[in-house]
Order: sequence, then structure tokens, then C-alpha cells
Amino acid sequence: MSGVPDALKIAISSDHAGNVLRGVIRDWLVEEGYAVTDLGPGPGESVDYPDRARPLAEGVASGRFDRGVLICGTGQGMAMTANRVPGVRAAVVADTFSARMAMAHNDARVLCLGERVVGAGVALDCVEAWLNAEFEGGRHARRVEKIG
Ligand code: RB5
Repeated sequence: MSGVPDALKIAISSDHAGNVLRGVIRDWLVEEGYAVTDLGPGPGESVDYPDRARPLAEGVASGRFDRGVLICGTGQGMAMTANRVPGVRAAVVADTFSARMAMAHNDARVLCLGERVVGAGVALDCVEAWLNAEFEGGRHARRVEKIG
């Protein structure tokens, strides 16, 4: 699938607590053929999660990216920040059912994971479930609109 012109554009970022998992997920996304933009940070850099979450969320809101993946220690701070950007819905997940439903019912274009919460295997399964899910629309679209 690599090199597919209409590949989904996915941005990924983390703070220092999510660096290792970010690398694992980024490499997997690239192997799967997605158009991946890694927004950092560099190795060993200690950074504040709001400074990483906001630019990614703004990129998703503007349409520069189709989806975003944010990783910190728990995923919580990333989601709290991303959800402050108008039009963005970010979901913290630690299981595949929640990951799938975050897209199917909530149209969450940003997925947040905690490197201190889930192992790489579960995290990759979550990302895959979320990417393979489709927003169901209908009554869910009405509810999602009410969030805004
Ligand atoms: C960093 O120590 C940690 O607080 C951060 O990665 C995150 O878990 C916050 O939500």
C-alpha cells in the first residue's frame, strides 16, 4: 500500500513520556502506507504536552491532516488540550472497542494513548481498529454536532 497517492494524512506527536511508543506507531503507520508527519519531539527532549497537542490538533482542524495520534504518559493531557481546539474531537483509549467506537460513533479524528498505560501491542491494535472504523453518521452525526 506504500506510496498510495490518496493515503490518509496522519500526524503524530508526543511528549517525552510518549516518545518510545510514538516511534513504534509511526513506523507501523509508514509500513502500512499512510502519509505520516512526525511532529516530534526529538529524542531526550523534555516537553510540555500542551505544546505538542495544540499544533497537531490545529492541523487536523484546518484539514492539513486527516487524523492525528497523540501520546503522553496517560493520553489524558493530550486529549484535554486537543479538545480545546474548535472542531477537534480527541479520544483517550486503552482498548480496541473504545478505539473503534471513538471513530464509529464520535468521529474522533484524534486518538490519544498513554505509553505508561498500554503496551505497544495493545496500542497498535487500538490504532488499527480506529483507522479501520468508519463514522456511522445518522443519529451519531446529530449528537456529535451538539458537542460543538
Ligand atoms: C509527564 O510526566 C506526564 O504528566 C504526561 O506525559 C501526561 O501523562 C499528562 O497527561
